[in-house]
Amino acid sequence: MKRDLDPQRRRVTGQAPAVGRQLLIAAVPALALAFLGPALVVAQTPEPIAPIPFQLELDQRKIDLGEALFHDVRLSRKNENACSSCHDLDNGGDDGLAKSRGLGGKAGRRNTLTIFNSTLNFRLMWDGRFASSEQQVEAAIHDPTVMGETWPAIIDKLSRDQALSQAFAGLYPEGLQPQTITDAIVVYERSLTTPNARFDKFLRGDAAALGPDELEGYSLFKTYGCASCHQGVNVGGNMFQVFGVLGTPGDYFRSHGAAADPDFGLYNTTRVEEDKFVFRVPSLRNVALTAPYFNDGSAATLTEAVDAMAKYQLGRQISSRDNALIVAFLRTLTGEYKGRPLDARPSQ
Ligand code: HEC
Ligand code: HEC
Repeated sequence: MKRDLDPQRRRVTGQAPAVGRQLLIAAVPALALAFLGPALVVAQTPEPIAPIPFQLELDQRKIDLGEALFHDVRLSRKNENACSSCHDLDNGGDDGLAKSRGLGGKAGRRNTLTIFNSTLNFRLMWDGRFASSEQQVEAAIHDPTVMGETWPAIIDKLSRDQALSQAFAGLYPEGLQPQTITDAIVVYERSLTTPNARFDKFLRGDAAALGPDELEGYSLFKTYGCASCHQGVNVGGNMFQVFGVLGTPGDYFRSHGAAADPDFGLYNTTRVEEDKFVFRVPSLRNVALTAPYFNDGSAATLTEAVDAMAKYQLGRQISSRDNALIVAFLRTLTGEYKGRPLDARPSQ
């Protein structure tokens, strides 16, 4: 893969992932420091997080078609999986497992990412290897552990379905094609945003939306420097970082049972030495609903994940009180889908 990453997105490093680790180490505490200081200074700093927009300009007929396809097992080998088998909208948009369970029950390589707000990320997947949702669909269809199917077989199955063929013909002049199937799924994915989290209400000026503990948690999230990586509309998803930026990259995996066969992140795709252990900073939207955490699912709770972040990304230990306050803040990032809070959905 050629390095075609948008340098604008790298706000912490200001450079491509090939940046020297020293620079990263210097940048994080410097940014953390920038947030420190009297409350007045913090109040004048523009917020590092923006609310998710309410309005989406999408064709509802394509959303409906994409929704049907997302739940359709005919997109997989032996009709075994649908996208929704692993991305359960009633369960935070993921599967609740440490690592995904693929075709034939085979263990997947990584933790399933939520499908909610995925189109707000600058790149896709834990290692950010895809630049577009279309690329991701193409790869998921052919991945033997995910859908394991071919386009000709899918078109063959779907074209026997008269209602579906007609729906496609009505919306796309080309009818049922790999690119029209992909387009409908991607339009549906764009509709899967979760606006109106309590935190977004606060950002829009509703001071009563957060309690004192949650407000203090947000303040700590900024002063510790979490927001130097988890920021923007998706509270993440807009830059690459090394997992283990302070210390020896890979330490986290070495101490979590993957010493012999660690996940090298972006390096798996680029084979550029400096990309070892580089991952996309994940979104923290709805993070209270997507346990377990990290690309290997090794942190069972938010408390564990926050402790690991403090240690490996900020090089410090934080008190259990501060940890609990930050977790209280993270819980305010749970948004709404179709006007209903995600944590009020059936299985929550
Ligand atoms: C077997 C479980 C499984 C199935 C089935 C599955 N996925 Fe996923 N999905 C995953 C896992 C695991 C990841 C993260 C993989 C990685 O980062 O390497 C993921 C990641 C994604 C992402 C990236 C999200 C982000 O924030 O970067 C999108 C989008 C996505 N899947 C869409 C789909 C679509 C569309 C389908 C159906 C065509 C599908 N998935 C089928 C397990 C699954
Ligand atoms: C230097 C950048 C950086 C800093 C600073 C940072 N993070 Fe992270 N965070 C990451 C990366 C990269 C990952 C993904 C790790 C992986 O590959 O599993 C991550 C993952 C997480 C996750 C797990 C998300 C999931 O869906 O599994 C949580 C929760 C989290 N961070 C919270 C925090 C908090 C709270 C702080 C401050 C104490 C913080 N982070 C500081 C880069 C950072």
